[in-house]
Amino acid sequence: MKIGTALSNSATKALLLGSGELGKELAIALQRYGVEVIAVDRYPNAPAQHVAHRSHVVDMTDTAAVKKLIALEQPDFIIPEIEAIATQALLDIEAESQCTVVPNARAIQLTMNREGIRTLAAEQLKIPTSAYAFAENFEQLQAAVDGGIGYPCFIKPTMSSSGKGQSMVKSADQLKAAWDYAKSSGRVDTGKVIVEAKIDFDFEITLLTVRALNQQGEIETHFCAPIGHVQESGDYRESWQPQAMSAAAIKASQDIAFKITNEIAGLGLFGVELFIKGDVVWFSEVSPRPHDTGMVTLVTQKQNEFELHARAILGLPVDTGMQSTGASAVILGGLDAQGVIYEGLDKALSVPTSEVRLFGKPEAFTNRRMGVALATAETVDEARNRAVKAATMIVIKPDR
Ligand SMILES: Nc1ncnc2c1ncn2[C@@H]1O[C@H](COP(=O)(O)OP(=O)(O)O)[C@@H](O)[C@H]1O
Ligand SMILES: [Mg+2]
Repeated sequence: MKIGTALSNSATKALLLGSGELGKELAIALQRYGVEVIAVDRYPNAPAQHVAHRSHVVDMTDTAAVKKLIALEQPDFIIPEIEAIATQALLDIEAESQCTVVPNARAIQLTMNREGIRTLAAEQLKIPTSAYAFAENFEQLQAAVDGGIGYPCFIKPTMSSSGKGQSMVKSADQLKAAWDYAKSSGRVDTGKVIVEAKIDFDFEITLLTVRALNQQGEIETHFCAPIGHVQESGDYRESWQPQAMSAAAIKASQDIAFKITNEIAGLGLFGVELFIKGDVVWFSEVSPRPHDTGMVTLVTQKQNEFELHARAILGLPVDTGMQSTGASAVILGGLDAQGVIYEGLDKALSVPTSEVRLFGKPEAFTNRRMGVALATAETVDEARNRAVKAATMIVIKPDR
């Protein structure tokens, strides 16, 4: 394993496609090993661009633009941070050059479309999931629901994230509105939606799973302690680690995470989303990269999810052990404005054990994640109280 000198001919270069808050922490982790970091996003001054060696503003869904940028930068690693990427460019680059797409181009292609990953998990790997169907028009959707999926159910665009275009339908009269909403707010209009039966879970978790090299140069799979979380309107609000669960449910979760990540292959960290009821576990989806709910690991683990991803990518050993129980609570914009002011950081940081990360996004939106508060404690309940309290102390205001 070799690393060059950043900003010299020998540099080991990582190009981040997507430069949000997760990319920012990953950039910091990579910088600590002397990797040269190039941060790309669709808008200037995105969070990771604040801490990278260089930045570019590019439409990452534009195949030609992505290829041109990669030819210019010639990175050793291309690390996608978001789902909306011109996957054909990545497939071509992987086939034609020495550059590693993390974890691999097929993984990015499979997971950006719910149809790809769901079909792989449920039909090929026989992993338990909610009952589901795909529909290309309202009549197909109605037929799928009437034909067995039933109510309540979730309607989601096949290409979307963070709950965009997604709704829960409780009865027949709400179905048309859910169809219209999904059709209008998908990230890329594939013309298709997925409808899923609602799983009546006790709680949901993210199982961070790392594929990293061991001393013999073989790939080994490591699991972090389960992360519990609360979602609102399809986006996460609070997360904590560890989530208490039965030994049987942990075993079933790890088996599912192993199967899916082993099939996806490559090196890196994955966020495997699972629904749990008693000892029963269902697979929901997987991110082939750090997960937003995993920001809690900034305070709970010896090596947080970004450090783990960086190490795994670089072929370095990993340790998924915890150092403390902890929690995270998101700080939302609460208003639409540019160049906002953050007040109350002093108060937030006077909550025992608390830490705050402000992402530095140039523009706030009411429901945009602008920062996160973190805290540790003896118990999950106390850690959650502290994190939520610290998050509430931060007040976001317009710049005048
Ligand atoms: N089939 C389902 N049953 C129960 N809850 C669901 C189901 N699908 C989604 N949800 C809820 O909505 C959240 C977001 O759904 P998800 O498929 O993860 O969308 P995204 O890709 O936008 O994160 C989940 O974390 C869960 O809380
Ligand atoms: Mg999700």
